[in-house]
Amino acid sequence: MRVIVCDNYEEVSKQAAKIVASQLVLKPDSVLGLATGSTPVGMYNILSEMNKNGEIDFKDVTSFNLDEYYPMAAEHDQSYRYFMNENLFNGININMENTHVLSGTTDDPEKECADFEKMIDAAGGIDLQVLGIGQNGHIGFNEPDTFLYANTHLTDLTENTIQANSRFFEKIEDVPTQALTMGIATILKSKRIIILASGSNKREAVTDLIEGEISTNNPASMLKVHNDVIVICDKEAYSK
Ligand code: GLP
Repeated sequence: MRVIVCDNYEEVSKQAAKIVASQLVLKPDSVLGLATGSTPVGMYNILSEMNKNGEIDFKDVTSFNLDEYYPMAAEHDQSYRYFMNENLFNGININMENTHVLSGTTDDPEKECADFEKMIDAAGGIDLQVLGIGQNGHIGFNEPDTFLYANTHLTDLTENTIQANSRFFEKIEDVPTQALTMGIATILKSKRIIILASGSNKREAVTDLIEGEISTNNPASMLKVHNDVIVICDKEAYSK
């Protein structure tokens, strides 16, 4: 695992954008795995800017998002579909039909998840997966537990995650208690992974990721078995 420690959030965003941009230069029809949360927003802004300037092209790109709340309508302003449209897709020349976000309104979550896995395989697998990290070490919505799921699945959110994500909702009762998420194997099958973290509230999770042992209690630690992972964080999140 390579670790890039940046001075601040802006640098984290720039470094991450550089990696995504070079991926698109090397393979214009790349399959990207994308994340939501506040951390990748800076990177998405830079990528949108680069696309407007003609430096990078999303015309032939396919994307798969890590997760979606359940139940949650795509039109809801806290859905991850809405987030992606607002923060990236609407500002770049990607073909919307090639963007895939799990449906938070499906009445058959099992089928939705199985179809999602099939679509990723049919697209040739994910070339570059972008991840954030939860304060408790979750990736996507793979929460710390005594076991983890390999494939895309419906999961319960932990109190810690509901609390952390309540900042985006009017009241904590509005935060969904479940989500659909790629599983650990779905993520690890990606050819290359970058994981972004910023701020002191991520320090414990990032330190555990870099220095800790592999444990299902720290889902991000599973990334240690992958041979092409880059952690991009700022000094607040990791100072060693
Ligand atoms: C959510 C998402 C994760 C994300 C995490 C951290 O729970 N499911 O994919 O990494 O939040 O979000 P933030 O970047 O806002 O701290």
